[in-house]
Amino acid sequence: MRNAQSEVLCVFPHKHEPICSFPFDAFVFILGPFSRTFAAGSAPAAAFFMSNPPSDAGRGNAQPVIRLQSVQKSFALPSGEVFDAVQSLSLDIHQGDVFGLIGKSGAGKSTLLRLINLLERPDAGQVFVGGRDLTTLSRRELRDTRQNIGMIFQQFNLLQNATVFDNVAFPLKIHGRHSRAEIDARVRECLALVGLAEKIDTYPAQLSGGQKQRVAIARALAPRPQVLLCDEPTSALDTETTRALLETLRDINQKIGVTIVIVTHELSVVEVLCRNVAILEKGRLVEQFAVVDAPSEERKTALGREIDELVRRREREAREPIAPRPPSLQRSPQEVAYV
Ligand SMILES: Nc1ncnc2c1ncn2[C@@H]1O[C@H](COP(=O)(O)OP(=O)(O)OP(=O)(O)O)[C@@H](O)[C@H]1O
Ligand SMILES: [Mg+2]
Repeated sequence: MRNAQSEVLCVFPHKHEPICSFPFDAFVFILGPFSRTFAAGSAPAAAFFMSNPPSDAGRGNAQPVIRLQSVQKSFALPSGEVFDAVQSLSLDIHQGDVFGLIGKSGAGKSTLLRLINLLERPDAGQVFVGGRDLTTLSRRELRDTRQNIGMIFQQFNLLQNATVFDNVAFPLKIHGRHSRAEIDARVRECLALVGLAEKIDTYPAQLSGGQKQRVAIARALAPRPQVLLCDEPTSALDTETTRALLETLRDINQKIGVTIVIVTHELSVVEVLCRNVAILEKGRLVEQFAVVDAPSEERKTALGREIDELVRRREREAREPIAPRPPSLQRSPQEVAYV
């Protein structure tokens, strides 16, 4: 039991705190997504398996799925000083969006992401997800509201002693209100969504980094959250695996309309995946814009300009005709047979 509990807590590492310092909150976080449909008197279990609502991204007047209003987060340092990690920051993210959070190390990206599911409670300001202000909710209400918010991490945080099936099924099983058949169906559905159906009986140690991250995505999606928070999900992966994982995320966004908020330090991730991006500096939001082919205004930050340049370069490369191979490099029929 002790081992099982410590594994549960390993799902939520926090680089600034010993892992055991926030067990209840972290535990509640993974259970939260399941509590509505599993709770007595709630919607029937079948509702749990219904599709996500369609995307609202791009609809100017739609209610944002995430609204941060003047959120503030400070940390007490051992020296006795107070460090402002997020300073009076407001942000709207719409349903179906893929939203990037970028900035230098220490800019406050992870803290901001953790404010969205209240793994960090803001010192001031409000956090609305799905129209509810999370900061005013009781612990139980918060747990219920967190059903909408999945999260994945840089280091995957899978349960090492559990199979892929059990990792994805874990939050469903723990409440024990779904039939075995329902859990089985949902796990298979999620694994198929991330292209890992055939790995259902393997253990995390037998998977590549990219496969582990896809299991983590399947687990996060199992309860059909409206929002998927991703903290540097590709940082531990090589270029090729990163590309495949970004395709998986894009696919998920397009197929089921889940809103993705992704913290990354890789601008190429923003350029390939994100529709909108916010740039943080010293806990402040300094710039926010849509990642579009033809930006209409000059960016304020170097990072913003770099993203524009990446987008322009990709556009140029897409337009440029592929040059014919010079005769000296043209392959003989024999060579072609080996290609
Ligand atoms: N629990 C904490 N106690 C003290 N300081 C903290 C705590 N959490 C975060 N900080 C500080 O807040 C600042 C922002 O941290 P955060 O982890 O949000 O940065 P980040 O932008 O995600 O950086 P990175 O790109 O390196 O992950 C950092 O200076 C960090 O040291
Ligand atoms: Mg971080």
